[in-house]
Amino acid sequence: MSIRRIVKHGEAALKRHSAPVDYEAMRGELPALLRDMWKTMYAARGVGLAAPQIGLNLRLAVIDVKPEGRSRRLVLINPEIVKLEGELREEEGCLSVPGVYAKVQRAARATIRALDQKGRPYELSGEGLLARAFQHEIDHLDGKLFIDRLAFEHKLRVLAVVRELKPTWA
Ligand code: NI
Repeated sequence: MSIRRIVKHGEAALKRHSAPVDYEAMRGELPALLRDMWKTMYAARGVGLAAPQIGLNLRLAVIDVKPEGRSRRLVLINPEIVKLEGELREEEGCLSVPGVYAKVQRAARATIRALDQKGRPYELSGEGLLARAFQHEIDHLDGKLFIDRLAFEHKLRVLAVVRELKPTWA
């Protein structure tokens, strides 16, 4: 078990479209992998982490937005967006783009369908930070970062900050 290095903006794993998880084939190695993902996410003080962020191009993510200040761990295997409603522009960041924040337009409410850590299908709706995390993490599985959601001029300004901070990233 270990804390993994988080892949940063500019590295190939973040740009690839990730492959679905074959739950039965991965059943044995999944618990250890998930433990590493939780450890890595909490150590970096994130609220979500997608497998591509540790260099694995698999459709797998973990989220804990700590509703009411208490941990609620969600495992998303092969997640799909079922429904998006409303719009909200809120500040967002990403462990793969450390120190960089920007306001991103997202749906205010999101419903997803996924498998949990035991391979059981579930559907879950979220709003606020959870809705944002669903959309942000699923974007990672499609090779997209939050800064790719910005309008062109805004993205250019944010990329200037990225270039400035990049030498400080581990
Ligand atoms: Ni991210």
